[in-house]
Amino acid sequence: MSEDPVKAAQAASFDAAADTYERARPGYPEEAVAWLLETRPRDVLDLGAGTGKLTRALVGRVDTIHAVDPSPNMLAQLRAAVPSARTAVGTAEEIPLPDASVDAVLAAQAWHWVDTRRAVPQVRRVLRPGGVLGLIWNVRDESVPWVAQLTQIMQGSAAERYVAEDRVPQDLGPVERLTLRWERPFTRESLLDLVASRSYVITATPEARAEILDRVSELLASHPDLADPDSWRIPYRTAAYRISLA
Ligand SMILES: C[S@@+](CC[C@H](N)C(=O)[O-])C[C@H]1O[C@@H](n2cnc3c(N)ncnc32)[C@H](O)[C@@H]1O
Repeated sequence: MSEDPVKAAQAASFDAAADTYERARPGYPEEAVAWLLETRPRDVLDLGAGTGKLTRALVGRVDTIHAVDPSPNMLAQLRAAVPSARTAVGTAEEIPLPDASVDAVLAAQAWHWVDTRRAVPQVRRVLRPGGVLGLIWNVRDESVPWVAQLTQIMQGSAAERYVAEDRVPQDLGPVERLTLRWERPFTRESLLDLVASRSYVITATPEARAEILDRVSELLASHPDLADPDSWRIPYRTAAYRISLA
């Protein structure tokens, strides 16, 4: 967990909104998942696995799936979606797995929440020789004007504020990168859910949350690029990193 109390509270906030999170958040592009698994790991840990948005894409592709997350409610959703996963409440700073027990550690939309100073040695500990740390984030494409306005209303997410190349550990081994662009259709309800699933909004006061949701509704009703609901798409950039243990 982070030593910054605001960030720590936001990191812990997902527990209270697991249903909304599961409904609202996107999964990860197939091409990016295949790329993360290119080394053909047999035993994989999904770290900060949440409701299992990435975990479910591992089914049938690896032998053993471990899923670790500090939130029991997120893990309950994960178990319903991926009954074969071995779940455990835990954190990246204290991974509840034995030494040299997995071939890959994957963190989807989660690495920005961890204290990397403490998490990197833990990742090194649980990985077998030749193992891989895979990091992946979906980030909305802010170059699209209405998306930039949406972000302004929602105050930006932790992923956007904390995703930076310098969070990707450079001292584990060589780093490879993949960037993909894609779009996801949405409705008024699903966009409001997406907004409501964000840590900043979950931890806001009820009044502030209602105001944010009102402003998002207003944006949908008034932005000229959103005049046709049939064409509503959120543009995403997916950034993935593969770090092989040297
Ligand atoms: C944005 S969600 C991502 C969940 C899932 N990986 C996905 O792709 O949808 C962030 C997750 O990180 C978890 N998390 C927060 N702090 C953590 C920590 N220190 N170690 C591991 N996971 C953490 C939260 O409980 C939450 O489930």
